[in-house]
Amino acid sequence: MEVALDTEDLAGSGLRLEIDGAVATITLIRPERRNAQTPAMWRALARIGDTLPVGIRVVVVRGEGPSFSSGIDLRAFTPEGVPGEDAPLPADAAPEEIDRTIAGYQRGFTWLRRPAIVSIAAVRGHAIGAGFQLALACDLRIVADDASFCMKEPALGLVPDLTGTKPLVDTVGLARALEMCLTVRTVPAEEARELGIAQAVVPGDELDDAVRDLTAALLQVDAGAAAATKSLLQQAPGNTLDEQAATERRAQIDRLRALGESR
Ligand code: CAA
Repeated sequence: MEVALDTEDLAGSGLRLEIDGAVATITLIRPERRNAQTPAMWRALARIGDTLPVGIRVVVVRGEGPSFSSGIDLRAFTPEGVPGEDAPLPADAAPEEIDRTIAGYQRGFTWLRRPAIVSIAAVRGHAIGAGFQLALACDLRIVADDASFCMKEPALGLVPDLTGTKPLVDTVGLARALEMCLTVRTVPAEEARELGIAQAVVPGDELDDAVRDLTAALLQVDAGAAAATKSLLQQAPGNTLDEQAATERRAQIDRLRALGESR
């Protein structure tokens, strides 16, 4: 079994991982670049997902400094690149290699939806491009009143490819997602709450407390029931009512068995 990563494993990734009981906190620690993201950060995120200790039930993703994340480190698009980093997508790579490379980056984002955990993005300031997608990769977003969201990729001639398009459309609908992405406009905190992107907006100095309170509330519920319920809810949009009803029955049979075994 893989062991949990320690700080040394994450050196140079721009991430810090702290574990406190059933709660893991991942902090983007590049505030001088507004927590701009790099391939090393995405690979480190994937490694955290691969090695997350059993028993972690809540994962908080936050950014140090005034911005959650300003998206991809724009130096990647300059001839000099980001010091110490490979280019995110080598221009001369074959399509299969690009596909494989992006799939590796996406792994840093997809694990945040796994049923055994609830992931919370604590967003203050800007969440732009890859930063918006990282927030969307989390199950819940608790945001400061100065938070803002912008899917900037189309303005760079690119598409959002870090798993953000599905949660965005699932949350706000196709028409609103299209309008937001193709006008590349910035959505402020209050509008994000109205659209369901943010579950709560709080004053900036109350963000940490709000996330702590939510975490405490989530931990009140039985771990097995929480994971089974999350899995059930995740399947609901893709199921007909009959399919979902059957899925509920199967999940309940598993729960009753688990409860019986624990007595
Ligand atoms: N990449 C590299 N450096 C960045 C950065 C980024 N994405 N964002 C900010 N920085 C750097 C700035 O260059 C600046 O560096 P210096 O101090 O050396 O000048 C420092 O961080 C502070 O930035 P600002 O002074 O601009 O800070 P601000 O608080 O006034 O503004 C901001 C913050 C609105 C995020 C602004 O910096 C900004 O617009 N950044 C660029 C955002 C962007 O376009 N990101 C790309 C998104 S698309 C994407 O992410 C694509 C993808 O996945 C493929």
